[in-house]
Amino acid sequence: MNVWKKVALVGVCASALVLAACNKKEAKKDNLVIKFTSVTTQDSPKGQGIELFKKLVEERSQGKIKVETYHNSTLFKDKEEAEALQSGTVQLAGLSLAKFGPLGIKEFELFDTPYLFNDFNDVHKVTQGPVGAEMMKLVETKGIKGVAFWDNGMKLMSANKPIHTVEDYKGLKMRIQSSKVIDLQMKSIGALPQVMAFSETYQALSTGVVDGTENPPSNMLSQKMHEVQKHASLTNHGILGYLVVANKKFWDGMSDEQRTIVQAALKESTDFTNKIAQEENDKALAQIKASGKTDVYTPTADERLALKKAMVTSHKDIDAMVGGGWMQKMYQAVGFDANK
Ligand code: LMR
Repeated sequence: MNVWKKVALVGVCASALVLAACNKKEAKKDNLVIKFTSVTTQDSPKGQGIELFKKLVEERSQGKIKVETYHNSTLFKDKEEAEALQSGTVQLAGLSLAKFGPLGIKEFELFDTPYLFNDFNDVHKVTQGPVGAEMMKLVETKGIKGVAFWDNGMKLMSANKPIHTVEDYKGLKMRIQSSKVIDLQMKSIGALPQVMAFSETYQALSTGVVDGTENPPSNMLSQKMHEVQKHASLTNHGILGYLVVANKKFWDGMSDEQRTIVQAALKESTDFTNKIAQEENDKALAQIKASGKTDVYTPTADERLALKKAMVTSHKDIDAMVGGGWMQKMYQAVGFDANK
């Protein structure tokens, strides 16, 4: 081969190498791994929503976006989960609305205000209206981005003794989420609130570190708490819902194509989760009752009103703690009435 042929060949090879490297880089840019973490089980309403999101994203991106799902606190417990999201160790998480206080967004704890909501229709009046939109903006200042509100269910109270009247709660050590509002709620009925990670609650109940807790039936059943709680009362005193949050840097860094796929999948999994949440909780309650392990009590109208009146005494302190007229915004959005 003459020298000029050799030079030409080296040139072709060099550009082929550059091209291959570029292609590889391009492919890498197109590929994305999203870690989605949750403390509830895969069969909980939130877990099912996360799995649907994974399926839709992976199918529609033809595998270019991979969604790794971590349920039941397998990757992080409550507090670590929020921190991992802020630092970008995970890209998405379904955080209960009660868990935004420790991130410095105390307004979200208003969702825990006892007897503010009669049901999830009331919750939607906030989450799907201007107040919800305003709250979403607060999240963005913390390196994260709120992307969807997801429902779970109305909370019941449980313990190892019957809890029918307000007096029955006196002195009971109750596991709560890290929410100052729930702390005030429990104190308003003479209970002793103890903040504890969700993943540690079953153990704490079974060893008597705490006496009782509150949660929707789906969480009670999927964490097997009904096996270590002899009594439950259908107080429906509060709600448990979520804000799905993304690491902001990850969210802003997605290409338009990636964002379109992710947003559409989020919308569909939000509709799905919010559609199944009530029926999943109804099913879970039926299973708890059928297990025969927990006696499930329905308070009389008078007992319910007495519990509501006692808990509503905490609203004043909650309002003072959150400030900014947020409590009034919530009252207005749902048409709150202390006497009904
Ligand atoms: C809890 O800690 O009780 C709940 O927030 C768990 C969850 O995510 O539903």
